[in-house]
Amino acid sequence: MKAVYPGSFDPVTYGHIDIIKRTSEKVETLVVAVLNNPSKKGTFSLEERIVLLKEVTKEFENVEIDSFDGLLTDYAYKKGCTSIVRGLRAVSDFEYEMQMALVNKKINNNLETFFMASSTKYGYLSSSIVKEVSMFGGNVSCFVPEIVEEALKNKFKRRI
Ligand code: PNS
Repeated sequence: MKAVYPGSFDPVTYGHIDIIKRTSEKVETLVVAVLNNPSKKGTFSLEERIVLLKEVTKEFENVEIDSFDGLLTDYAYKKGCTSIVRGLRAVSDFEYEMQMALVNKKINNNLETFFMASSTKYGYLSSSIVKEVSMFGGNVSCFVPEIVEEALKNKFKRRI
């Protein structure tokens, strides 16, 4: 099975890496696809997110890092992916994730969404919370790999 794991990854955290690692052990190929959303400016540029993702997933041989714009279903079809993978942390994620899964299924009935339950230790983690901690000078080394930690420090240093 070839699956796509789409997201903003702004930036990638240990929570994402956990999903990538565990999913890559179950599928033939996993395409991690970063949404290129010009109308929503993130903290990191698309290129920066891709560089970080490539670095932190380089040990996973069947993982490909890519980006997409437009509809996820169109992208999945173009890439030959038959499944979408999304991580589920808490019940609070469920409503939004279910809505996306149902809409995507309606658009393309052949595309299935699989939810991967987060590991308990990353159940509270999000890119937004990591950015907030880092922005105020907190230590984020238990949330993100060193290269991401450094990128966050540089990003917020320049803004002060
Ligand atoms: O990490 P995120 O921000 O929760 O990821 C959301 C993402 C990228 C999966 C979602 O916004 C998406 O698929 N966007 C592409 C546009 C699309 O296909 N929308 C219809 C499905 S809801």
